[in-house]
Amino acid sequence: MRELRFAANWKMHIGPDEARAYLRAFRARYDRREDRDVWFFPPAVSLEAAAQAVRERLDLSVGAQDIYWEPKGAFTGAISAPLAAQAGAKATLIGHSERRHVFGESDEDTRKKTVAALAYRLAPVLCVGETLAEREAGHTVAVVKRQLTAALGSLDAARLAQITIAYEPVWAIGTGRNATPRDAASVHCEIRSWLTTRGAARARVLYGGSVSLKNIAELLAEPELDGVLVGGASLDPEGWAELVQIGGA
Ligand code: PGA
Repeated sequence: MRELRFAANWKMHIGPDEARAYLRAFRARYDRREDRDVWFFPPAVSLEAAAQAVRERLDLSVGAQDIYWEPKGAFTGAISAPLAAQAGAKATLIGHSERRHVFGESDEDTRKKTVAALAYRLAPVLCVGETLAEREAGHTVAVVKRQLTAALGSLDAARLAQITIAYEPVWAIGTGRNATPRDAASVHCEIRSWLTTRGAARARVLYGGSVSLKNIAELLAEPELDGVLVGGASLDPEGWAELVQIGGA
């Protein structure tokens, strides 16, 4: 059975009360399906409310949008893997393009965050992807492989198998301009071969960037895609409940 993962990145939206209301509405419209799981990435202040709201549903999980690699200390404004886990997080995004390009996160930062997440049993979702200039210069595969190697190159196969990769071309995020299913699938193949040579062929590879109800079916028609990471189209619980039921056998 093909197993799909649908991940909602709420970015800087949806406070604790709104998260409770959202997840009530979502749960009412979406019953568990064997072939998929749904992950929510709320802002840090809403982690606990969201985790509480899904605690009876094993197919629904909550994760942090970012963590800092130190477990504790004088790091004002940051949250650590153990703090996120205490609030109910089971996963964390790492190296989202907004972290890389707005906040200046480096490849080396993504490596340290991945190691910290695994140490505290948060499932890492490593985001990789090229800018428009990199794509136009023909550097897409080189950039993606550099990001993979930097963040994950030191992990053994068992730890690598616990990673979810999200391929998100930077030019497709929040722009309404998604990669064609073929473009996405060809980069997914490169990521899969990178994983396979390291003994982790079964790690999940998601696609992200302007995924919506309009394009989800054709994207998931590509067997290379194990699911999607979605920003804008995940903010409305009814639309998201509809989107997560598309695709699969
Ligand atoms: P988008 O965001 O779906 O709004 O393009 C995706 C993401 O940033 O993860």
